[in-house]
Amino acid sequence: MTELLGIAYPILQGPFGGTLSSVELVSTVSNAGGLGGYGANTLSPQELIAVHNKIEAATNKPYNINLWVSDTDAPNGMITDEQYEMAVKIFKPYFQEAGISLPEKPAPFKSKFENQVQTILDIRPKLFSFVFGIPSADVLEQCHKFGILTAGSATTLDEALALEAAGVDMIIASGFEAGGHRPSFLAAAESSTTGTFVLLQLIKEKVKTPVIAAGGISNGKAVAAALALGADAAQIGTAFLATDESNATAIHKQMLFSDAAKYTTLSRAFTGRLGRGIANRIAKDLIHKEDSFLPFPLQSQFMSPLKKAAIEQEKWDMILFWSGQIAPALKHKKAAELMRSVIEETTAYFDHLKI
Ligand SMILES: Cc1cc2nc3c(=O)[nH]c(=O)nc-3n(C[C@H](O)[C@H](O)[C@H](O)COP(=O)(O)O)c2cc1C
Repeated sequence: MTELLGIAYPILQGPFGGTLSSVELVSTVSNAGGLGGYGANTLSPQELIAVHNKIEAATNKPYNINLWVSDTDAPNGMITDEQYEMAVKIFKPYFQEAGISLPEKPAPFKSKFENQVQTILDIRPKLFSFVFGIPSADVLEQCHKFGILTAGSATTLDEALALEAAGVDMIIASGFEAGGHRPSFLAAAESSTTGTFVLLQLIKEKVKTPVIAAGGISNGKAVAAALALGADAAQIGTAFLATDESNATAIHKQMLFSDAAKYTTLSRAFTGRLGRGIANRIAKDLIHKEDSFLPFPLQSQFMSPLKKAAIEQEKWDMILFWSGQIAPALKHKKAAELMRSVIEETTAYFDHLKI
């Protein structure tokens, strides 16, 4: 994996979608010998090119750009009046509590993926990773032609088999401990909740494609454990999200280091897709009310004024702070220190085995 990617250590910084990635974090990790990753799912082609130029100015090392193959669950990007009314009914008390009016029916969402992926073919990062599906055979072929390595996320063995059949270069085994959305694309996310180390072993038994373990890994012992189970590399998300260099807000980072992070939950209430964050009142109240939520990403659009008001009013129990289950074990606030510690700990573990 290190040879393929041209990096010193088999450690990837998980990309964060929805504006939480930063050029500083990507370049810090890549400059430290790992592979930094930028989540570009919300960016326009022009924004993507600008980010690429900034990363290139900050590091001459390889890095990863990540996109969402499927970026909406709404047919034609639209919802019906009936769906909107159902969402209004269920979320009205929270908007009232925050003293703000209910949002208008969200405007139709236009998928960005096709234009974004054309930009990837132009800027040619060392690695193009993706979630929520598999790009077309034509796109994958062009990536191979241009020397762009590809990595797709699997939450089940079936998804890993589908990724291998499509000819991707690497598979990310994305366990249910992970922070952020569950990137499932074959079965429902709710029935694709295997833990990282089981998923990794199942995939390693059946596929030949190199596998990157992701979910619940924040230190060198866990990287060593993943490598011992056959992983070719490990991807770390939440631990990097909590560092000064990420684009998460100061309160988000504070929450990741607080007692609240002991309790995470999977919820669709904030975006319409299932994602893991620190448990909060809305997620708890609305368990089993998923039929009333809007499809992704219109639910995010619907909830955005509430998020803004909740931040202003410091109503933290109304905000989903993305987090993986491992948050209570986090120790580092500087990305370079986290990298150094992970490398030292992993190396020490394998040296110890040799004795
Ligand atoms: C806030 C947040 C946003 C994420 N966004 C993406 C994304 O857009 N694309 C992606 O492939 N993975 C995304 N991930 C997953 C991470 O890249 C990584 O695989 C995961 O966080 C690893 O699990 P951990 O959080 O337990 O370390 C996200 C994770 C978090 C916490």
